[in-house]
Amino acid sequence: MTDVLDQQAFRYSNDAEPQLLCEDVPLSELAREFSTPLYVYSKRQIIENLHAFDATLKASGKEHYVSYAVKANSNIEILRILAEEGSGADVVSAGELLAALAAGFSPDKITFDGTGKTDREIELALKANIHAFNVESLEELTVINNIAERLGVRAKVSIRVNPDVDAKSHPYISTGMKENKFGIDMENAREAFIYASKHPALEVVGIHVHIGSQITSLDPFIKAARSTVKFVNSLRVKSGIVLEHLNFGGGQGIHYRNVVKHPLLPKDELGEEGEYVPSLSEFVGAVLPILDQTGLKIIFEPGRAIIANACALLASVLYTKSNSLKKFVITDTGMTELIRPCLYEAYHQVAPLELHQGSTQRVDIVGPICETSDFLAQSREMPPLKRGDAIAVLCAGAYGYTLASNYNLRPRAAEVLVDGTEYRLIREREKVEDVAGLSEKEKALMASLVS
Ligand code: LLP
Repeated sequence: MTDVLDQQAFRYSNDAEPQLLCEDVPLSELAREFSTPLYVYSKRQIIENLHAFDATLKASGKEHYVSYAVKANSNIEILRILAEEGSGADVVSAGELLAALAAGFSPDKITFDGTGKTDREIELALKANIHAFNVESLEELTVINNIAERLGVRAKVSIRVNPDVDAKSHPYISTGMKENKFGIDMENAREAFIYASKHPALEVVGIHVHIGSQITSLDPFIKAARSTVKFVNSLRVKSGIVLEHLNFGGGQGIHYRNVVKHPLLPKDELGEEGEYVPSLSEFVGAVLPILDQTGLKIIFEPGRAIIANACALLASVLYTKSNSLKKFVITDTGMTELIRPCLYEAYHQVAPLELHQGSTQRVDIVGPICETSDFLAQSREMPPLKRGDAIAVLCAGAYGYTLASNYNLRPRAAEVLVDGTEYRLIREREKVEDVAGLSEKEKALMASLVS
């Protein structure tokens, strides 16, 4: 949903043999140096995405802050950049909380989400004195109360309401309907707020609502905003409970198609206008005037909109083959590095790192994993590809590495951060012998094989 930059971080060079670049670095250089699979991030794009969010909100003149959803990408170096740029952090586990604190996010800009916080996690967050827990059930509220009492502190709580709104995204990433496990429905939420307001170890600071992810129409956001505002006002009038903030969650959709353009790339089937995604200004213009009616400070928790388009996942073609029905391009990268196509039938643009003239072909781009669902793209018109060519899967920054796995005992890939003409490794590739759990003795025995 971020508004388009003057110059996209990922684009082709103007040469006779166009090369895909990240900022000023040819991606083929990185694929050669660090091997594939490889996640490559643009520092400039990350910062511009955050600032685009901030600037759009500032332009509205409204007090707000952006709390980056760490689950989208929790690489500590990326967290450091966002902390330094003034972002808040939205965490969902002890691991994410520790990473956020270590990266330098100010505790008073950290919120803790999630339906199943453990006692240990609650205790940790209380000791760290975070801004607020986004509480998902009445029982969780009682547990937070008991732990806070035991520690002799006050827990700041914000209650997540479920507005029963269909986000019209993939069902697995829709969270705001009654059938979903998230939040407390509007009928029971009042009881939770009243409970919290009556317990001295709890301080009710806000209300939270998050209806889903990759939302590409404004309507569900508007519906959720209206019902939350109505609830906040009635809470004040009928129960005398006054809040400090309204956290409207994340979920802003982004463009996954036509991210990188070049005349040698086949046209996307949906065409230039095929994918409607509201711009950030349209989103803010639609929801902020509604949320503003509460007079509360507004928090947004974007994940994807900050990090997705700042990363390309590089892969190498291992083999090609065809039968009477299909052509397959088999790469060294698959659902273990990017599960989104398999899990949500998500579309990611795939672009060769080097473009050559030649007729295009309709292919399935698949990985090496032993599952039929292991594909990066299906029935995709692509420029010619052969063994040894490298490709980029675009917009892989959100829910790419964080959802990666060691299935088939595959080591998780390395991550590289590009900054102008410079680049550096921000996470090493896992080692096969570690992933396989070898003892030190076994590692020594296998050393000649894996070195
Ligand atoms: N706030 C809460 C409470 C969330 O649960 C999430 C994401 C966010 C904020 C950030 O949402 P975003 O702005 O990134 O849409 N793995 C899926 C997405 C799962 C989203 C989980 N919650 C995917 O790859 O599409």
